[in-house]
Amino acid sequence: MLKMTVKATIGSRTFSAIPPAPPAHPKRVAGLDLGFVQTKFVWGTRRPQYSDAGIMVDPGNTCKFGSLVKRRSEVATEGLEDAEGYVIVDEHGTWNVGSKGSYDFTSERLTRDSDLPKLYTALALFRQQTGSSIIDLLVSGLPVDEYSQYRGALQQALTGDFQFGFGSQQMQISVKKVAVIPQAAGAFYDYGLTDDGKLTDSPLLRETVLVFDIGGKTTDGCIMEKSKYSQDSFTIRQGIWKVHNELRKLIARHYRGFVLAPSEVDAVMRTGILNIGGTQEDVTHLRTKALETHFPAIRDELSVYVDDLRRFSAILVAGGGAALYTPYIQSITSVPVIQLSHAEYSNASGYRKYGMLLMGA
Ligand SMILES: Nc1ncnc2c1ncn2[C@@H]1O[C@H](COP(=O)(O)OP(=O)(O)OP(=O)(O)O)[C@@H](O)[C@H]1O
Ligand SMILES: [Mg+2]
Repeated sequence: MLKMTVKATIGSRTFSAIPPAPPAHPKRVAGLDLGFVQTKFVWGTRRPQYSDAGIMVDPGNTCKFGSLVKRRSEVATEGLEDAEGYVIVDEHGTWNVGSKGSYDFTSERLTRDSDLPKLYTALALFRQQTGSSIIDLLVSGLPVDEYSQYRGALQQALTGDFQFGFGSQQMQISVKKVAVIPQAAGAFYDYGLTDDGKLTDSPLLRETVLVFDIGGKTTDGCIMEKSKYSQDSFTIRQGIWKVHNELRKLIARHYRGFVLAPSEVDAVMRTGILNIGGTQEDVTHLRTKALETHFPAIRDELSVYVDDLRRFSAILVAGGGAALYTPYIQSITSVPVIQLSHAEYSNASGYRKYGMLLMGA
């Protein structure tokens, strides 16, 4: 291999040396997925290997935390002082962010009591992990049915210099530029782009593809035609949260009144194991029943928007629901159904890749 050398002269001596590697391009690009159930934030390239239910911070790459945001005053009255989570303080109040529980699905986008404390938490974890207080480009997304209404407002809300307290630490973080795309388009880019934001050689980039993002509150059907977002995309008002509720009901019936807290269902969904009275019970049959009970609602609503799934070359399944629902989607069509890897992160990871594409342009 040909190695380039440089000559340097210090005093009367001349040195030959391999030149130092150029500094990594200072692209501080991150993807923020403000899900209703979980907030996912990705700024690195290593794929998160975790599928745990709680707060997760993967050094230098990713964080995930529950999207429950509570004002301190409510935390005190509802006895949630010990809730797992972070404390955010600014001149408008104090919030507890990050625990799991019952989510207020009626909450408005972009209020001080919803998306902003989640943004602050994500930025603070990024700052703690990387030591950087600047993000050059932040990419985020909105469900298809909120995209045209809130796109500009979200872009504005996420851009700027933010000052707030994170626990006892004072934070000052600057987000220089923001791009907002449809949520599940992020998952498409996660599939179709490399970590550096280059196009992969997947033929699906030139085809018509349905990205089916099964989230906690809603399921997005994002149609990508030759890698371009189609206006025929849609949002289904069905999500994994209904499966959680069904599973809680089934467990209460099966175990004579044993009621799981909403914050505990997530772990049972992932593992199929229920810890009860010091023993571990396999409840995968109840989980299957809950999934089966809820699937017809998803299937029927999907058929309202798409007459014939054969118009797609493939269906990419993303979101937390992908892990369990992918075979169910495959059961209703002959079209290839592909479960994205690390599906609950695929929007956030794809946002980052899309940001890299924009930065490289
Ligand atoms: N590997 C897994 N196995 C089983 N269930 C999972 C897995 N990963 C995630 N889930 C479930 O999917 C749920 C929803 O996850 P997701 O992060 O997609 O929702 P969200 O993005 O917050 O919601 P929305 O997209 O509606 O705003 C989680 O609460 C969890 O119970
Ligand atoms: Mg989601």
